[in-house]
Amino acid sequence: MNRDTSIRPFNCVFRWDLSTFNYQDPTQTAETRVRLALENEIGSAAELWYDGLSREEGSPWESYLKKWTPASAAKWFLDSKKRLGTKMLVPEQQEVIVGVNGIISEKNSGKGRFFTGIVVSPNYRRRGIGSLLLHKTLSDLKKEGLRCAEVETIQGIPAAKYLYPKHGGKSIQVPA
Ligand SMILES: CC(C)(COP(=O)(O)OP(=O)(O)OC[C@H]1O[C@@H](n2cnc3c(N)ncnc32)[C@H](O)[C@@H]1OP(=O)(O)O)[C@@H](O)C(=O)NCCC(=O)NCCS
Repeated sequence: MNRDTSIRPFNCVFRWDLSTFNYQDPTQTAETRVRLALENEIGSAAELWYDGLSREEGSPWESYLKKWTPASAAKWFLDSKKRLGTKMLVPEQQEVIVGVNGIISEKNSGKGRFFTGIVVSPNYRRRGIGSLLLHKTLSDLKKEGLRCAEVETIQGIPAAKYLYPKHGGKSIQVPA
């Protein structure tokens, strides 16, 4: 593992056991639909990912983002789709994409990985969209027959303090 934290800032992993994950939906926001991004939407999803991480409170992703641009992220998303069959789930409101989660299904290990983490557009936060996207992700992975889901993240940021544990994620410490 690369221990240069400016390149890989992740210091905790959240894991969901999909055999016990229950399907109770979070409070539905009727105007939000979660679907797969089309190929021609990958560029906008990458811009949203970059902007969403760079505008998190306290700038925890600042160093990590130095190695990315929205264009290089779009290339990463497209390449991983071709090579690994990854999927980009996006919540949409009135035809505007307002979040993203990129998922890799590892059939051999039975694991689903969120390779982008859940990211919601700054102007749409605290309205249940992150919860909805997380639920859809976990439900889809369970339907695929996977045994667990994982995301690498940073301790103490809102996703790790609120979103992931609130919906059943168990944190696993990553050795420094
Ligand atoms: C983390 C993130 C995805 C949450 O998205 P969201 O749409 O605001 O999440 P929700 O509205 O579904 O909130 C889920 C719960 O967390 C709480 N919450 C979310 N952000 C919070 C914050 N900054 N402070 C306090 N509570 C917060 C909400 O109140 C809600 O709890 P409740 O249901 O008891 O009210 C969003 O803040 C984000 O995109 N952050 C930057 C990207 C990032 O770091 N992602 C993690 C990558 S691993």
